[in-house]
Amino acid sequence: MTTAETLKIGGVELGQGLILAPMAGITDLSFRRIAKSMGADLVTSEMVSAEGIVRQSGSTRLLLKSHPEEKPLAVQLFGSDPSVMGEAASIVAAEGADIIDLNMGCPVPKVLRQGAGAELIRQPTKVKQIVEAVRRAVTVPVTVKTRSGWSKSQINVLEVVKAAEDGGAAAITIHPRTAKQGFSGKADWHLIAEVKQAVTIPVIGNGDVTRPEQVGEMRQLTGCNGVMIGRGAMGNPWIFKQAKQLAQGENVSNPSVRERLEVMGHHLELYKESFSRWQSLSGIRSRLMWYSKGLRGSARLRAALSGCQDLETMIKICEDHFATLED
Ligand SMILES: Cc1cc2nc3c(=O)[nH]c(=O)nc-3n(C[C@H](O)[C@H](O)[C@H](O)COP(=O)(O)O)c2cc1C
Repeated sequence: MTTAETLKIGGVELGQGLILAPMAGITDLSFRRIAKSMGADLVTSEMVSAEGIVRQSGSTRLLLKSHPEEKPLAVQLFGSDPSVMGEAASIVAAEGADIIDLNMGCPVPKVLRQGAGAELIRQPTKVKQIVEAVRRAVTVPVTVKTRSGWSKSQINVLEVVKAAEDGGAAAITIHPRTAKQGFSGKADWHLIAEVKQAVTIPVIGNGDVTRPEQVGEMRQLTGCNGVMIGRGAMGNPWIFKQAKQLAQGENVSNPSVRERLEVMGHHLELYKESFSRWQSLSGIRSRLMWYSKGLRGSARLRAALSGCQDLETMIKICEDHFATLED
């Protein structure tokens, strides 16, 4: 049995510190509410452009939609100008964000071109300036999420996290892959342990946790104070609850087909609430597929759903499919 510590970021109590990762296009309000209901101690928004917030862009505002059920909420900002980041943070905090997370790891070209995301890894001085500016602008805790470095030959995460800590960050999340690596290879959990040794603020480990037992394994190997889960929670939000059961020394069982269908149905209802019809259909199709990932016949389900343009038919196809798996 693994004894889980409790996590506190600034004044925000976060239980066992199991966190839903920020994922653009994925961790919208519907998914955050599902993860929260399944035991996530903290959920994080998709990354939101600081410039977009300050300019009051309509599409950016949509990303900030929240619901009391998901609280506490971390809103993640990306950008490169310290004063714009500060201004955006104060707007988001005034609207109820409990934590402001700063994206310093995104390797997507669109973000890098703005000098934001992983581009900041190459400028530890700027990391400190941005954290300081945001800290001055808000009273809620400010956290930083980063990667191990720019490339294999430029692993400078310790310098980056110390700059963030010096700037006043309340916690650090580390996804130990380089920006150049994207999602290839394996996350190097040993680097999380090194970060933990290098700073005094809480460290959240992230990367490749796809099974509940890996939460305890990551804690044990790295000494991290919290564990963030991204892809492993897509279509598998039970992972949070299961990790907590394991930490209590309880047996873990997989969700029954009925439970899977219920959660999937709830997720779709929440998803439909927030989006236009067009977005709903393509988004719903991908979300339905998440829930069948790794199960028998998922390729068959994928094929059946792929051409379907009607929500009721999609749901019927899923119900019929899951009925064939009934245990
Ligand atoms: C589709 C997708 C979108 C992502 N978007 C973001 C993002 O907006 N901000 C961020 O910091 N990381 C983002 N990430 C990275 C994740 O937060 C996380 O660091 C990474 O997936 C590793 O964790 P995992 O192995 O648990 O998925 C994204 C990852 C994926 C797969």
